[in-house]
Amino acid sequence: MTRRSCLIGFCGAPMLARAREAESLAATARAAGHLFGCAVRPDQMLADPDFAAMVMRDCAVLVPEIALNWSYLEPRPGMPNYAAMDALVAMARGRGKRLRGHVLLWHLGVPDWARERMSWKLVRGYFRRTILRYRHVVREWKVVNEAIDTGQRMDGLRENIFLSAFGPDYIARAFREARVLAPRARLLINEYGLEYASDQDRRYLFLELLKLLKRDGAPIDGVGLQSHLDLAKGPFDPAVYRRFLDQIAALGLSITITELDVKEYDYVLPAELRDRRAGEAVRAFLDTVLAHPAVRGVVTWGFSDRYSWLGVTDSDRARTPEAWQDGSSPGVNRGLPLDSDLAPTPIYHALADGFRALKRPG
Ligand code: XIL
Repeated sequence: MTRRSCLIGFCGAPMLARAREAESLAATARAAGHLFGCAVRPDQMLADPDFAAMVMRDCAVLVPEIALNWSYLEPRPGMPNYAAMDALVAMARGRGKRLRGHVLLWHLGVPDWARERMSWKLVRGYFRRTILRYRHVVREWKVVNEAIDTGQRMDGLRENIFLSAFGPDYIARAFREARVLAPRARLLINEYGLEYASDQDRRYLFLELLKLLKRDGAPIDGVGLQSHLDLAKGPFDPAVYRRFLDQIAALGLSITITELDVKEYDYVLPAELRDRRAGEAVRAFLDTVLAHPAVRGVVTWGFSDRYSWLGVTDSDRARTPEAWQDGSSPGVNRGLPLDSDLAPTPIYHALADGFRALKRPG
């Protein structure tokens, strides 16, 4: 269907249903005292006005998917590349959108030149340039991303470039550095792989790290839980997860769901069933999460399957080769609020229902 045929009234049923949505996700979340948003790539927004319109309608928070990664901002020393982030700032400005900074220290986001001669002077310079440039529009920063891993060290810290250059104190140090530059910003630590029974050790190590940071007096305001749900993993146990959220909250930290999406497992099923499974996973997760008093918002990692970072992998194809032979599976992971045609999926409805079910605070 072309955009024109849609505009003159021949939209498919999903599009009509979408148009009938009484309220946007941003509005239903706000009414419940929550924030909803998604990660975006400004180049995709600029090239695809239909997609951009959906994002702008439903999202109160915009997070640069890659535009603030150190390696993206400063691919070569002394030659920063601010164009994409500046474009996002321009889109957000005047539309009442919040911007969340993703991400300051991430082991996968370090440019090669900095990796080769890592020093705290380099980190400080990059923090200073980045935080100060966007201080008027970015009021919330993910300062450290993916700092823990199992099977590496007794303290659970990931063996990464920062650990080997600065020792275990680099996390607290990064928060202190960011606090000086952004005295009033919300500073978050962000982590993945915490949802399922098999993630028990990761939950333990993450909580231990949070306790240590608090004991050290690190200026940390909240926790970002990436929440990349995975239909190959499980089970998701609401009681276990609620207790985990309680333990974070007991440390005086707020909680934000920062990268929600669903990685599928069974690509052979009819699309409708695949969507239902992904939607149910999100619904079960949100049932536990949204009701928790420390949780303040949800961001999905992307908004439409058209631009999902989650591809179908070689091992997915190897597991179910028949799915790809007749062309019935287009090779797209269906794990975001809008499908590739920008129609709302069960994930969209799980979010809308989840926010609607919450009482207005106060
Ligand atoms: C991903 C982006 O979505 C991709 O486009 C990029 O190629 C790699 O990084 N956890 C994170 C994000 O914190 O930065 C990652 O984003 C997804 C996993």
